Amino acid sequence: MTTLLERPEDMLRDLRNQLGPQAVLIGNEVPARNCNDWSASLPQTPLAVIRPVDAAGVAAAIATCRKAGLPFVPQGGLTGLCRGAAPEPGWVAISLERMTGIEEIDRASATMTVKAGTPLETIQKAADEAGFFFPLDLGSRGSCAIGGNLSTNAGGNRVIRYGMTRELVLGLEVVLPDGTVITNLNKLMKNNAGYDLKHLFIGSEGTLGIITRVVLRLFPKPRSTMAALCALKDYAAVVALLDAARSGLGPLLSAFEVMWPDYWEMITARAGVKPPVAAGHGLYVLVEAQGTDESIDAPRFQAWLEGLMERGLLADAAVAQSLAQTQKFWAVRDICAEFGQVLGPHISYDIGLAVARMDEFVTRCKAALADGIKGCESVYYGHIGDGNLHLVSWVTGLPIERQPKDAMDAIIYGLVREMSGSVSAEHGIGTLKKQWLGHARSEAEIALMRTLKAALDPDHLLNPGKVI
Ligand code: FAD
Ligand code: LAC
Ligand code: ZN
Repeated sequence: MTTLLERPEDMLRDLRNQLGPQAVLIGNEVPARNCNDWSASLPQTPLAVIRPVDAAGVAAAIATCRKAGLPFVPQGGLTGLCRGAAPEPGWVAISLERMTGIEEIDRASATMTVKAGTPLETIQKAADEAGFFFPLDLGSRGSCAIGGNLSTNAGGNRVIRYGMTRELVLGLEVVLPDGTVITNLNKLMKNNAGYDLKHLFIGSEGTLGIITRVVLRLFPKPRSTMAALCALKDYAAVVALLDAARSGLGPLLSAFEVMWPDYWEMITARAGVKPPVAAGHGLYVLVEAQGTDESIDAPRFQAWLEGLMERGLLADAAVAQSLAQTQKFWAVRDICAEFGQVLGPHISYDIGLAVARMDEFVTRCKAALADGIKGCESVYYGHIGDGNLHLVSWVTGLPIERQPKDAMDAIIYGLVREMSGSVSAEHGIGTLKKQWLGHARSEAEIALMRTLKAALDPDHLLNPGKVI
């Protein structure tokens, strides 16, 4: 027999008494922000949002959810693009938004220990103020949280030099779906004592545990930043430029972002951006290099570009003369964050592909979408130095629920499979790409993922139905 005290709402109120009035929001107290991530999809209101301030609070939240039989979803900055952090009705959101702050910077180890809800930009600034550099950088830097970055194994703009988030983490603290707290705030670069368990949680999109603290690697602060926006006649020239950047700039190469002409047209005609290079070219590339000595690096970068001009590789190029200009160049690339306002409802994709075949994919995909779906438009850009293409597609005038996502998915992911690519290079699977996981992973791999999930979360209460 169910007594009144056993109702989930009453258990949640008990938890509020235990964790404090700000820690548990129930029913109509649930803020709109906790009802969806950044993906263009319909929000769902959870039964409650729990906002603990430490691992013990997360464990208490989990204990309550388990007792009440309520599924629970971890939430960071909610900038994810595939509904990984989105709740379903009747679920509880466990938000890390109050678990913020830098606990320690260890100069000798070159590490920073942070709470998992800390925004990425706060970490970048703290590293900078301490004379270090934290290289992870994404357009969502002001809103995303480091726990979310780990859980999605975020990529972003500097992967070409520093690797994905996975490469930037030495230790973490995580609360398992049964409430056990695993604390391994490892600072050692070399530690082969048994399985490296942190990698289970990095990139698992909040399906295996809730990360509460993180030890990050810090890097020497760059003392020079050089950037050029280049226009090229075709994709063969882009590949030649990438090759020249790898060999000519060596370890200084820190970003290689490519934009197709439809992207250029979109940002100039519809988003009002005035890029430093005129339209009318085959492709556009933002190349960035970071070094240790401005007086040596800047002239070398300039001379490298001039050499490419003389070889006829570049149709046009603008070189940033100051940090402010470098930031303006990046604004040309970061403006895609505002596609929502410019385009209205659209679907975004995050494809992994062999660098050599990117342009073939773009040409075929654009034609297939336009031919196969009435009124379907698409634009293309991405971290091409990392083999990562983004595209957004839409039919003008349709609300998000009527955008032909299934038809777009079938065309795009069909092509991805045919070209041996990945259905997600950096954003993850969440629910929006779940049905396409088999296009990028074998049955045996997916079975092993399910085995791991069942071992850690046999009751399937942590973010159920996500990824696999
Ligand atoms: P959320 O959206 O809150 O959550 C993401 C996933 O992680 C969910 O499955 C959630 O359940 C889980 N999660 C969150 N916190 C925890 C935790 N503490 N423990 C366990 N699980 C947790 N991504 C890139 O990789 N590269 C880019 O260049 C990039 N650019 C972007 C630009 C814009 C404008 C936007 C809006 C997004 C961009 N993204 C990019 C996507 C997004 O910002 C990243 O996926 C980011 O890492 C998500 O972090 P978050 O804190 O917002 O996570
Ligand atoms: C970007 C996001 C979409 O690179 O990943 O802009
Ligand atoms: Zn990206």
